[in-house]
Amino acid sequence: PEIIIVKNEDEAGAIYARCVADLIKAKPDAVLGLATGSSPLAAYRALAATVRREGIDMSRVQGFALDEYIGLPLEHPESYHSTIRRTVVEPLGLDPAKVHVPGDVLDGAPLEDGGLIAGAGAAYDAAIEAAGGIDVQILGIGSDGHVGFNEPGSSLASGTRIKTLAERTRIDNARFFDDDIDQVPTHCITQGIGTILKARHLVLLAFGEGKAEAIAETCEGGVSSFCPASALQMHPHATIIVDDAAASRLR
Ligand code: F6R
Repeated sequence: PEIIIVKNEDEAGAIYARCVADLIKAKPDAVLGLATGSSPLAAYRALAATVRREGIDMSRVQGFALDEYIGLPLEHPESYHSTIRRTVVEPLGLDPAKVHVPGDVLDGAPLEDGGLIAGAGAAYDAAIEAAGGIDVQILGIGSDGHVGFNEPGSSLASGTRIKTLAERTRIDNARFFDDDIDQVPTHCITQGIGTILKARHLVLLAFGEGKAEAIAETCEGGVSSFCPASALQMHPHATIIVDDAAASRLR
């Protein structure tokens, strides 16, 4: 992958915004791959500012999010459906009907709803294909090297599917659920590593010392399912944008 070291999140955001704004000018119905979490927030803000400044028409842009919890109603404030609405769809002025989150078809259905859940992953991958594939996929990375909800050990060939959330991830995410782990869903639906690798351009953002080990493993370790982000080494157009702290363990 191409590695770009920046001063801060705003500088990273500006690089993402330039790349996506130029894409949309050339291809007004571009397909954006979207992530939740803190890492992409400055990039979405920078893109929103560029869109306003340059008067870019966003009405035909399509979006596909990486992942979603299982069992939360869509309108729950911490569902990724709501989070993507708040952080991406509204600030960028996207058409909500053109932005998809993998749990949308489940609409809060419980895990026991086997039939619905079994087909949801394949249906999502088919929807991405039908839209023409993802042009630019933005990614964050977990301190354990996860991307999407693909925790260590996830198949590097995986498609969108249901996964059990790692205990560590549920503990980390309890802060969004009144610090009560019992409120954190136990399962999720996530784009697979194979799905992510099909996007034409991957842009992974990582900031802070907490990501340094995962970034070193991603860029300089072997390709391994134990660091799912290391699969980016197999992608022909992957850009990794990091600050000094996240780059600090690179050799
Ligand atoms: C978000 C996602 C996760 C996060 C990762 C980093 O949709 O799938 O993989 O990108 O956990 O989270 P932050 O950016 O909050 O450090």
